[in-house]
Amino acid sequence: MRARITGSGHYVPNKVVTNDDLGKLMSTTDEWIQQRTGIKERHFVDAESVQASDLALPAAKMALEQAKLEPKDVDAIIFATLSPDAHFPGSACFLQTKLGCGQIAALDVRNQCSGFLYALSIADAWIRAGTFRNILIAGAEVHYFGLDMTDRGRDVAVLFGDGAGCVVLQPTDDDDRGVLTCGVHADGVGAKELWMELPASRIRADQVAEGQHYPRMNGKAVFRWAVEKMPEAALTALGKAGKKVEDVDLFIPHQANMRINQLVAERLGVPADRVVHNIQRYGNTTAATIPIGISESWREGKIKEGSTVLMTAFGAGFTWGAALVRF
Ligand SMILES: CC(C)(COP(=O)(O)OP(=O)(O)OC[C@H]1O[C@@H](n2cnc3c(N)ncnc32)[C@H](O)[C@@H]1OP(=O)(O)O)[C@@H](O)C(=O)NCCC(=O)NCCS
Repeated sequence: MRARITGSGHYVPNKVVTNDDLGKLMSTTDEWIQQRTGIKERHFVDAESVQASDLALPAAKMALEQAKLEPKDVDAIIFATLSPDAHFPGSACFLQTKLGCGQIAALDVRNQCSGFLYALSIADAWIRAGTFRNILIAGAEVHYFGLDMTDRGRDVAVLFGDGAGCVVLQPTDDDDRGVLTCGVHADGVGAKELWMELPASRIRADQVAEGQHYPRMNGKAVFRWAVEKMPEAALTALGKAGKKVEDVDLFIPHQANMRINQLVAERLGVPADRVVHNIQRYGNTTAATIPIGISESWREGKIKEGSTVLMTAFGAGFTWGAALVRF
């Protein structure tokens, strides 16, 4: 028994914010951002009332429609996000109610940019074990209100955007279909190289004054680790599935930085025309990135029946992973 992706969907909020728009809030330029990251613009929510589960809702409906399922058919929701609706409960619970699912399992995954791959690995295991049949994975982020939009936070704030992507997984007994392999890894040695300390089990006023409720990053360390670990995980995933780079029809890397993705693709030997880039339009949408990439690629005809798709991600933790999926 394997887990097959039978539907996907995505949604980004309407408000487009260009690099020049950010230049009005902090000392940054379109040239710096494009040269360093490839990002031209990103989408942001325009009201504080819009939460991660709100962005996930239309993406989930789109994915269920493609899979020809109704909300009542869903057996479990796994919601990957670093910007949840509330500190607790998880956003999967909010999405369960908004979608109108039954009293099913609802789990949040807090693994940042690798969150979708961790969610995929759990869904794959649940389906293989026969625990659940129809699983909805949502990756959704509302970064806007959590970013330090001043000079202090400019190294991080210019990188991120809001959005949501969803996939539906269902069982198949076709040996050559579905999630062929999904590997996930972590090394806490990098925990403080990319982190947001608050909210935590204790919050002091002086910590808030210091901006510890905003994400902080050692960009160079993240870059170095990402270009090493993403190819390593991708080669491990290919090896476990008995496949080679030449078997890959489409490569969907996490979108944190165009230069990271170009280097990773080069190191793997994936031809440029098989690599998905949407960072120019969306920035880094964290857990939403890979499912947005799947949904867009499927609708653009880059993913077809029988396509072999390689995905890899790296992010805070450090956490990273790779999956090989046959559609
Ligand atoms: C963030 C990143 C683009 C920065 O690029 P970089 O070449 O390492 O740039 P540096 O951090 O060395 O900064 C260079 C200069 O630009 C400045 N700078 C930082 N952010 C800036 C911004 N938004 N606009 C203009 N200048 C900026 C720095 O202060 C520094 O100035 P200095 O030389 O006077 O000290 C890059 O390190 C990166 O992409 N890292 C990985 C990030 C990532 O993947 N994060 C998410 C993981 S999922």
